Amino acid sequence: MTTPNSTISPGTSARSSSATDPLALIDVDHVRFYVGNAKQAAFFYASAFGFQVEEISDLTTGNRTSAQYLLTQGNIRLLLETPLTKDHPASEEIRKYGDGIKDIALTVFDAEKTYEAAIKNGGEKAYEPRVIKDDRGAVTVAGIKTYGRVVHTFVSRTGEYALPTVKNGGLFMPGFKKFPNFALNDFNKKHPCGLKFFDHCVGNVELGKMNHWVAWYENVLGFSMFKHFDEKDISTEYSALMSKVMASGNHLIKMPINEPAEGKKKSQVQEYLDWHDNTPGVQHLALRTDDELHSVAELRRRGVDFLQIPETYYETVWQRVDAMLKQHGHELVKEDHQRVRDLGILVDADDEGYLLQLFTKPLQDRPTLFFEIICRRGSQSFGKGNFKALFEALEDEQGRRGNL
Ligand code: FE2
Repeated sequence: MTTPNSTISPGTSARSSSATDPLALIDVDHVRFYVGNAKQAAFFYASAFGFQVEEISDLTTGNRTSAQYLLTQGNIRLLLETPLTKDHPASEEIRKYGDGIKDIALTVFDAEKTYEAAIKNGGEKAYEPRVIKDDRGAVTVAGIKTYGRVVHTFVSRTGEYALPTVKNGGLFMPGFKKFPNFALNDFNKKHPCGLKFFDHCVGNVELGKMNHWVAWYENVLGFSMFKHFDEKDISTEYSALMSKVMASGNHLIKMPINEPAEGKKKSQVQEYLDWHDNTPGVQHLALRTDDELHSVAELRRRGVDFLQIPETYYETVWQRVDAMLKQHGHELVKEDHQRVRDLGILVDADDEGYLLQLFTKPLQDRPTLFFEIICRRGSQSFGKGNFKALFEALEDEQGRRGNL
């Protein structure tokens, strides 16, 4: 999850110090989206979020089943895939769910061994190990099913396809080529959005299924519980959800799991499920920056649509956050308060420090997947103090869509 020159970095020590633990994770290899039109989606994510459209695999590279665009920013790799035939499995998924995330792929030392360990621990096969290779090197992939339509692919890499080489501009895997002459890439280099790596990835599951998936991450992938919220934390007068945060052994990736909770009106998790063919899936990806104000200002300039935070939020936020930071002897929020307010950014604090965060509106027409832009100044939590303010804002949006 780290970039070599990044000023922010989560723990990078592997779950065990060597490759002896098959479940030791090295990185988030990539996140695969299934989309209806990858060519247009690539343009959207490049234009709105500043991603480099780096590589492509499509008819021009001999791929006759799908078109795949590799987009990168910092240590974030998104793979946008669109099927070219009606028989491709992505065609059926796009019909059911619209555009969204199919796969959170994890780099490991030995994909086959990780897959075998996960299956032995009770994981269900998505697909068996396969090796994709050419004279430059090899990429081994194997997949297990997690909640709903989502898969975790394990990826191990050798030769010129090793991850450090990929991060330095090497080819992603056999069958890809560099994306030629894209004007937006030059623009994005001159006007960076500052997104560095995946901070966390949130899944929405059905009512009553959160604990099942919490246990699954513990048993199958050796994750452990990081944080836990219930409906008292995350509720407004009308709607609620429950959430538990699972973290990999080395805290490389955090995967909060949400389920809806009863409220007077429909939970945002239920709204997601309603528009996602009643199937669990990824609700949001949190992308880390070390300068929230710069990132949000640049994204807003590019037209990214963020949730609108009620003005009343800023009447109480500084008091709440300062009190927490003083209580635990931490530096107060150094970002300019007026700019935070002008940019509509959320702030929260806990016993370890503070964080700044903001949520986009859905990234496609269905109210399903969205992004979070997050900056941590010590705080390792998820903005619990913002849930109420945030949910009121979300409900306003839900109401406008006629889904409350
Ligand atoms: Fe989040």
